[in-house]
Amino acid sequence: MMRRSIVKGVGAYLPEKVLTNDDLSQLVETSDEWIKQRTGIERRHIAADGELTCDLSAKAALAAMDNAGVTADDIDLVILATTTPDNTFPATAARVQAKLGVSKGPAFDVQAVCSGFIFALTQADNMIRLGQAKRALVIGAEIYSRILDWQDRSTCVLFGDGAGAIVLEAAEGEGSNTDRGVLATSLGTDGRCYDHLYVDGGVASTQTAGVVKMAGKEVFRQAVSRMCESVEQVLADCDLSKEDLNWLIPHQANIRIINKVGDKLGLDGSKVIVTVQDHANTSAATIPLALTHGVKKGLFKPGDVIALTAMGGGFTWGAALLRW
Ligand code: UT7
Repeated sequence: MMRRSIVKGVGAYLPEKVLTNDDLSQLVETSDEWIKQRTGIERRHIAADGELTCDLSAKAALAAMDNAGVTADDIDLVILATTTPDNTFPATAARVQAKLGVSKGPAFDVQAVCSGFIFALTQADNMIRLGQAKRALVIGAEIYSRILDWQDRSTCVLFGDGAGAIVLEAAEGEGSNTDRGVLATSLGTDGRCYDHLYVDGGVASTQTAGVVKMAGKEVFRQAVSRMCESVEQVLADCDLSKEDLNWLIPHQANIRIINKVGDKLGLDGSKVIVTVQDHANTSAATIPLALTHGVKKGLFKPGDVIALTAMGGGFTWGAALLRW
């Protein structure tokens, strides 16, 4: 027997305000046609004044708890993946824990930019497998609208605000690749690529929050290769092959990246979850948003093998393989 963690519930929250490509063309020299063609993005959501990352997180977490049929008393771990915390400290997860009324176990943030949800899921899975937690909330939440240069068309059209969450619960498995739940995870970082995607401010450097700077082409190239390698790694770790994959949930940054990853893995487009058109790149939130979309659409059948993968600033990357 072996302890596993299974996805018990999912939830999402997108702020009310929608910013379309046409709206953006009033701000910078761009067009709906360029954005759609180069990225697949049609709209993004923008947090209201005074709405914080903890608010988005708590709404997504409550939806996930409701979907799982659990209450705050059942949760004993909160991990929040975010690059846009409410304050420098304490962790935004601590605020989320208090907002939800969770009173057991630790709550902390994980910072791995767009790969943050995979890093947080890996941490939660490891803690559950070690017996350090029974039921975890794993959240990805971001307010990128507050770290964008709204005059830089090469970045401001790409990102949006939002949150997604899952409830991960301990379950007994046999230790084989037919178990339900998280079968394998794989993470990586190459700090030499720091300058390709970063924010030009911070507590120690400028005492300001800064704005996103990106070498788009290099990020694109590495995103495709790192996500493919990560998925191949978790499949190999479980003695499974690409043919065993029922679903791919890649980080939602650009439809061209998503299609290339799907093609390189030999997957039919119908097996790849795509939501980037509806919320743009919400960094650590894209994977739980896309996972929630798939669940709400009733796409996943018991026994399906699902690969989640992401790549982001750092560079960081990773994948998780689940059996539904
Ligand atoms: O989550 C990880 C983080 N991010 C990503 O994964 C993003 C990775 N990169 C990308 O998605 C793409 O590289 C971009 C969408 C950022 C850019 O697409 P591209 O096909 O690499 O375009 P480009 O940067 O080569 O720019 C092509 C042209 C340029 O004009 P010239 O030099 O050819 O005259 C840009 O100035 O498009 C221009 N351009 C724009 N035009 C209209 C750049 N941004 C815009 C814009 N609207 N918003």
